[in-house]
Amino acid sequence: MTSALIIGASRGIGKEFVTQLLNSEWTVYACARDLKDIDLLEQQGAKGILLDVTDPTSIVGLGRSLDVVDLDLVIYVAGIYGPEFGSRLVPSAAEFDKVMHTNVLGAMQSIALLAPMLEITKGKFIFISSLMGSISATQSSFGWIYRASKAALNMSVKAASMDYPRVTFSVMNPGWVKTDMGGESAPTSVDQSVKGMLSVISKLSLNDSGSFQSFDERSMNW
Ligand SMILES: NC(=O)c1ccc[n+]([C@@H]2O[C@H](COP(=O)([O-])OP(=O)(O)OC[C@H]3O[C@@H](n4cnc5c(N)ncnc54)[C@H](OP(=O)(O)O)[C@@H]3O)[C@@H](O)[C@H]2O)c1
Repeated sequence: MTSALIIGASRGIGKEFVTQLLNSEWTVYACARDLKDIDLLEQQGAKGILLDVTDPTSIVGLGRSLDVVDLDLVIYVAGIYGPEFGSRLVPSAAEFDKVMHTNVLGAMQSIALLAPMLEITKGKFIFISSLMGSISATQSSFGWIYRASKAALNMSVKAASMDYPRVTFSVMNPGWVKTDMGGESAPTSVDQSVKGMLSVISKLSLNDSGSFQSFDERSMNW
């Protein structure tokens, strides 16, 4: 595999995917929503693409930018946590929409646009989910909207895997990672998380399409 697209590459896990793939001599297309991040990604050696996953015109523009590119791997990393509260507070429509739009609708729109391109190369389409999206592992409602968004992402990806039998789809638990989102107390470094995920991704085949994977190779229950 040689050519990858990272959606949500400005910092954290997405930026580390860019760094590690460039170090392994991949051609990397890196999406960010701010021009200054595009500049930094290009200085690193990536090909920058301006993209806000909550802006439909921006997503359609992504299709145009990649028109003649053979992609082997796409990783949808973009995500927000939103409010931390659980089921004793009433979420507003605005709070709900912001998280669901970024974490779910953006992913669904990217599938319709990019999966047909991956069919040509028999490529892999990976989505960064979370242990918090596992219904069977749920022990609290903390981060209620975020939990619902990652469970919805899992279903969106599993369902789409039925429609594109030549593409290997997977959702991935990155662990609890030291990033802006994960915070300083997280036990896993971003380097360790991304190294683990790239190793898992490299071993995936079409037989694994529609699976829930983890950076540390432990088995994940939906
Ligand atoms: N860190 C953890 O412990 C952990 C655990 C489980 C799952 N995850 C998941 O891993 C993914 C990456 O998380 P992270 O820890 O690296 O978080 P992060 O440091 O907060 O980075 C989030 C990334 O998503 C991008 N993003 C957010 N909204 C966007 C939008 N509308 N359009 C385009 N890009 C957007 C951000 O871009 P800007 O810089 O422009 O905001 C940034 O690049 C997320 O999906 C998260 O849910 C993280």
